[in-house]
Amino acid sequence: MGGEIDVYTLTVIKADTGGFVGHCTVHPASVRVAEEKLSKAKAEGLLIDFCVGKVGDDIALIMTHNGRTDEKQIHALAWETFQATTQVAKELKLYGAGQDLLKDAFSGNIRGMGPGIAEMSFEERASEPLIVFLADKTEPGAWNWPLYKMFADPFNTPGLVIDPKMHDGFTFEVLDLIEHKTARFNTPEEIYDLLLFIGAPGRYAVRYVYKKGESEPVAATSTQRLNLMAGRYVGKDDPVMIVRCQSGLPAVGEALEPFGQPHIVAGWMRGSHHGPLMPVAFDQDTPSRFDGPPRVVAYGFQLCHGRLVGPRDMFDDPSFDTARKQAVEIADYLRRLGPFEPHRLPLDEMEYTTMPQVMERVKDRFMPVEEDEAPENVRPLRSGKR
Ligand code: F6R
Ligand code: MG
Ligand code: MG
Repeated sequence: MGGEIDVYTLTVIKADTGGFVGHCTVHPASVRVAEEKLSKAKAEGLLIDFCVGKVGDDIALIMTHNGRTDEKQIHALAWETFQATTQVAKELKLYGAGQDLLKDAFSGNIRGMGPGIAEMSFEERASEPLIVFLADKTEPGAWNWPLYKMFADPFNTPGLVIDPKMHDGFTFEVLDLIEHKTARFNTPEEIYDLLLFIGAPGRYAVRYVYKKGESEPVAATSTQRLNLMAGRYVGKDDPVMIVRCQSGLPAVGEALEPFGQPHIVAGWMRGSHHGPLMPVAFDQDTPSRFDGPPRVVAYGFQLCHGRLVGPRDMFDDPSFDTARKQAVEIADYLRRLGPFEPHRLPLDEMEYTTMPQVMERVKDRFMPVEEDEAPENVRPLRSGKR
């Protein structure tokens, strides 16, 4: 792989291995250790290049290499790196040290072991701009709405109308997170079918987007659901997403544009609340108010023979100030509801939090109600009775 036809794999693997303070951010010592590990792997030739990214309490290892997707050595490197950052977290008694590492030993592929992963192999174009989005305090389905806007909504992406290279549309691959099945939908002709599913982001998540008829993805997301994997409440999945841009794909500005209108996602405090997804610059990626609100950062790169030229902080732009302000207004409004839905997630989604344990304790208080037990004065009238 690699060499003359410039095919590379971009792998982004993220995990929360310990928060500073609480679930707010990653300690600089953890970032340093991750950088040391990946520098060594680069010096040894395993990686072409890397960038250690972060959002909130999650570290994201952004790596390019000549291997395939699901390359054992790359996944093992990520696992070892997270072991090392967990060690730092333990030494500093950071919060939730090793939180997302659900298994004791590496088993050949990091999928199913806790960390989230988005990766894709593709032939690097003459110029290859791409954006790695990282979100904290939310779930993989949070990308559904922006991906739809980028690749299927001409009100967001005028290229769909006016660029002959985009006019045919894109194919979305949707994953059913509960039944583990995938389905593909072509846009624009099947947008109504697509929206049936991706409008329910707790259950269905867009996993890949393709140019119609092509096999290389143009966007990929992490779709791991931490709590479903763990079988207990661990935290939200805090997903990542890769979007390739320009020349027949959404322009960089079209890929960023959906985040100019903050949409409401599931996550936030205790992974149990709806809140706005706030686009922020790197120096504002630290959720604090009510452990949030959920936020997203955008790492922009130009790929150059597999080298990651960047990152550029794509949301460090005053034109996103209004979105940030609007996100705060939405947060203020939703917070007024306190423990009531729709601020608190609906009951079926609360199943994956700690709430069922509390419900279990008081469930015996509920007694069956039978019609005949109702007080005399509210007993319903029935012909022949009374
Ligand atoms: C959200 C998140 C936090 C915690 C909250 C309680 O994904 O991780 O909001 O759920 O801080 O944490 P514990 O239960 O560890 O005290
Ligand atoms: Mg956390
Ligand atoms: Mg997190």
